Amino acid sequence: MMQQDPIMRSPSEHSASERVSKTSERISTFDDKERICEVLTQGSVEVLGSLRDILGDLVKPHTNKADFAEVTPETSLMVIEGGSESVYAVWKPCIGESKEMLDRMGITEMYPREAISFRVSEHFGFGLVPPTVTRVIGVEGVYGSLQQFMDLGDWGTNSQMERLQESGRSPSRMPGEPEQLEQEWDDYFDEITRSLRYKVLALFDFLTLNFDRHGENILYRRQIENQQPEVVAIDNGCSFSPLGYLSYPSTGPSEFLNRPTQRTAGMADLPLEVIDRLLVGRSKKEELNIYMAPHLTNEEIARFWSRVDHVIANKKVCSKDVLSPSEQIRLIGGAIR
Ligand SMILES: Nc1ncnc2c1ncn2[C@@H]1O[C@H](COP(=O)(O)OP(=O)(O)OP(=O)(O)O)[C@@H](O)[C@H]1O
Ligand SMILES: [Mg+2]
Repeated sequence: MMQQDPIMRSPSEHSASERVSKTSERISTFDDKERICEVLTQGSVEVLGSLRDILGDLVKPHTNKADFAEVTPETSLMVIEGGSESVYAVWKPCIGESKEMLDRMGITEMYPREAISFRVSEHFGFGLVPPTVTRVIGVEGVYGSLQQFMDLGDWGTNSQMERLQESGRSPSRMPGEPEQLEQEWDDYFDEITRSLRYKVLALFDFLTLNFDRHGENILYRRQIENQQPEVVAIDNGCSFSPLGYLSYPSTGPSEFLNRPTQRTAGMADLPLEVIDRLLVGRSKKEELNIYMAPHLTNEEIARFWSRVDHVIANKKVCSKDVLSPSEQIRLIGGAIR
């Protein structure tokens, strides 16, 4: 494919980049991302125990090994915004990845996909994935991913939100949990499903071929006073698996695209501000390819960019179920049987 000269960008990409730079501050979800990545990459890591050992029932039983870790900067030069001295993180070692799941997805490792997903989210300015890096830990040199742990006072999964709704009625809160939701969870969830952020998450899952976006793999922002509903995408190890994406039913925001409440079932219009981000990201392909190349094949990377092109051309996000078999083969790498 012909490389585009960045200076010779088409007028629409040029104006897209100007529009995006005006709105990017407003859209950012995480503070100080590059600094947090630096701490996660270079700081000293103390694994404190499994998430369920540390947080108990707040974390529902799940498939892979996921530990709670504290990462402390090695030098005082790595000051973290807000004055905190360390970063809490989720450590997912490759040795704890479910072999059965890997086989079913036709992939050999999940942890790099966690970090690639963060980079995709950043490349397009979506701000959906908490800062995530790959790392080698311990004397035995175990590979895995480290992701910033999102404060449970501000964020919660579906079950954590339900639990909070119950605990608002009974006094069984965990320390750090807010007293109550400002709105019934069902009503707030309805609002979320109608929000642009939820649509952008469906788009993100289509671009990264993530079929595993169930309610425990999304964090919803608890505090909503004067704020738009906000979602965060965690657990991205099952992305970039054409086999998994095509063989599992659509879940979460992708499943919502198929609901009859959509104007056109299986798809949703995307506003210019989102298309602008895709245009700008497409004009800097190589910057993202650097993160993908060590772990994905050239064909997988080319298909990823075909999905980006497809969304830009249609100005819609489509569920896999409405793509024709030939589109599925071209964009995903196989067809639903
Ligand atoms: N970055 C994070 N911030 C806050 N909580 C998190 C984060 N990552 C994981 N969790 C919590 O830990 C749980 C388990 O983590 P995760 O979903 O990554 O594990 P998994 O075993 O791969 O899950 P699955 O069963 O969906 O494959 C999540 O459902 C969530 O409650
Ligand atoms: Mg999960």
